[in-house]
Amino acid sequence: MYWVLSLLPALVAAAPSPQPASNVHHVPLIRRAPFRTASGFIDMDRLVAAKDSLRLKYGFVTPDQVQRRATQTDITVGNQGGDVSYFAQVSVGTPSQTFNVVLDTGSSDLWFASSQCRTCPSGTPLLQLTSSSLQTSSNAVTLSYGSGSASGTLAQDTVSMGPYTVSNQIFVAVSDMTSGLVDGKLAGIMGLAFDSLAASGATPFWETLVQGNQLSSPEFGFFLTRFLDTATSTQETDPGGVFTLGGSNSTFFTGNIEFINLPGSTQSFWLQQVSSLSLNGNSVALGSSNLAAIDTGTTLLGGPTTAVQNFWQQVNGAQALTGQSQGFWAFPCQTNLSASLSFGGKSWPINPADMNLGEIARGFCMGALFDVTQGASIGSGTPSWIVGDTFLKNVYTVFRANPAAVGFAELSNAAGGSSGTSPVPLHAALLHPPSVWAPRGG
Ligand SMILES: *[C@@H]1O[C@H](CO)[C@@H](O)[C@H](O)[C@H]1NC(C)=O
Ligand SMILES: *[C@@H]1O[C@H](CO)[C@@H](O)[C@H](O)[C@H]1NC(C)=O
Repeated sequence: MYWVLSLLPALVAAAPSPQPASNVHHVPLIRRAPFRTASGFIDMDRLVAAKDSLRLKYGFVTPDQVQRRATQTDITVGNQGGDVSYFAQVSVGTPSQTFNVVLDTGSSDLWFASSQCRTCPSGTPLLQLTSSSLQTSSNAVTLSYGSGSASGTLAQDTVSMGPYTVSNQIFVAVSDMTSGLVDGKLAGIMGLAFDSLAASGATPFWETLVQGNQLSSPEFGFFLTRFLDTATSTQETDPGGVFTLGGSNSTFFTGNIEFINLPGSTQSFWLQQVSSLSLNGNSVALGSSNLAAIDTGTTLLGGPTTAVQNFWQQVNGAQALTGQSQGFWAFPCQTNLSASLSFGGKSWPINPADMNLGEIARGFCMGALFDVTQGASIGSGTPSWIVGDTFLKNVYTVFRANPAAVGFAELSNAAGGSSGTSPVPLHAALLHPPSVWAPRGG
């Protein structure tokens, strides 16, 4: 399914509508998240207060700091719906129940659809609340994402991924979710950003492993596969790559990992600064706000209005879509979009196949770069770029907690290579019909 367009928590406060006819339903991907001020900044005081009071109220304690041998482990990743979302398996409770959850570096909460879910799509795997180690609470939490929301109550149980276990992981047992938030075969989301973003107040699973010295390095790496351009990718799930917890696996990259520190001192999203964007060798003028969230949980590549318009104005015949699809652009399918992004260092090419989402009208294809801010004003600490899987499939990415940085490296041949120049596969055109790619309203 194709609705996991963006799991990133809403980034910017809804802007005053530029035209009277448009309203917030036409500004999808932009929702006010909890713990944000009116200007869109993260309200740190409120976050910290909420987290502290929750932990106190429910007696949630920090994980045992038992010394364990620090390791690094490769976790198998699945690719859902032709590069729409990437997931891995976790086990919960006693006896353990196993679920696939989206790996989302753009949020920090962990949740599972629970057996009490009223509005989960049929077929959603549900967490049975029968575990002997489960602690439940009546504390309600709502999680807002770019593509929907989920709500439920806080719970705590043993959670494992690969060889790693956190014995008292707090998560949200979800009883309601908006349609399209996760695929019916996926049971929830594991947030992999920093704890300050967690609406649940819980320490993310990965941070608990870091704090408990379970990982040989305070970092994790991603190699994500591309199936968008293969005629055989009509399967619902394909091999999605490798998530390395506790390090990076040099099998999947070549050369050095270029680390760039997170800007500023607040750890929230995995932030970088977009320093250049080019198309077919020509640079694209960027606007003034170019903070980017590096986000495995977002399918596409979102940018601020100015840069996105400047990009598409360089493409002959490109047209802005309207109505439900406002923010997206279509372009003549035979055009090769060879784009590159950089974050202050090397320029990383994006395979033209990733920029082309397929034909939406005779000869016209949908582009993967879309306008995520739609004219809204962006607070200075708020990302206006969402660098999702469209880009991340082209590099090996390392998320490092300390010193906090994001690193990119070229993919090895074993991982498909980082060549940005292979031809646009027209046969992939109809993989995702336009309606499923359209931004979601409401
Ligand atoms: C890296 O991945 C390869 C291929 O899956 C595997 O054989 C190897 O053990 C991994 N290396 C590390 C250090 O985990
Ligand atoms: C796109 O690239 C392919 C392969 O490099 C090439 O065959 C094709 O002519 C290019 N199309 C255009 C419009 O440049």
